[in-house]
Amino acid sequence: MRVTVIYGTDNGNTRSVAEQIASQIDGKTIEISAATHSDFEDCDLLILGTLTCGYGDLQSDWESRLGILATVNLTGRRVALFGLGDQITYADTFADGRGELYEQVVGQGAVVIGSTPTTGYDYFASRAVQDDVFVGLVLDEDTQQEETEGRIAFWVASLKMVAAGELGAQQTPQPHYAN
Ligand SMILES: Cc1cc2nc3c(=O)[nH]c(=O)nc-3n(C[C@H](O)[C@H](O)[C@H](O)COP(=O)(O)O)c2cc1C
Repeated sequence: MRVTVIYGTDNGNTRSVAEQIASQIDGKTIEISAATHSDFEDCDLLILGTLTCGYGDLQSDWESRLGILATVNLTGRRVALFGLGDQITYADTFADGRGELYEQVVGQGAVVIGSTPTTGYDYFASRAVQDDVFVGLVLDEDTQQEETEGRIAFWVASLKMVAAGELGAQQTPQPHYAN
């Protein structure tokens, strides 16, 4: 399976996470500022990642490259999303930037896979939530760094199960480490 992880970062956390995900799923990483049209299309699974900045905003390189994303044919294609945020300082806009990417790719006909439970997080509002689950992976390197490694491993395993047909695209697996 050809996997491409495209990410935007300000201070490096999202790059580090992108590289961890790619290494576990045998994929390649590309920063959104350098991504081309074919980088989005020449893969079997597209993984997109962003932090949230400002007050619930999408990362700035992503903002300026949304025009490229909008021209990519995503109809019926599997896309997985991950996002970084800070649930304590920004409890009302937790990982909202990720929600913006979700709305964009769904609008282009993508099948978004890899939803995860909100168990273990503590926030007030997040645009990354749909029907009581995160539509993708949400990480908090600011206040829950110790959870990151396990959350990535759990998420990548669930993506592989979807790819292998062992888990429906819209199913949300329950993590073993949940309280
Ligand atoms: C000025 C500023 C604004 C932020 N705004 C939000 C926000 O609205 N919501 C959120 O969940 N996280 C917010 N964050 C937290 C970042 O998303 C988080 O620190 C992330 O790990 C940074 O990733 P990076 O190292 O890839 O840039 C903000 C951080 C900064 C410095």
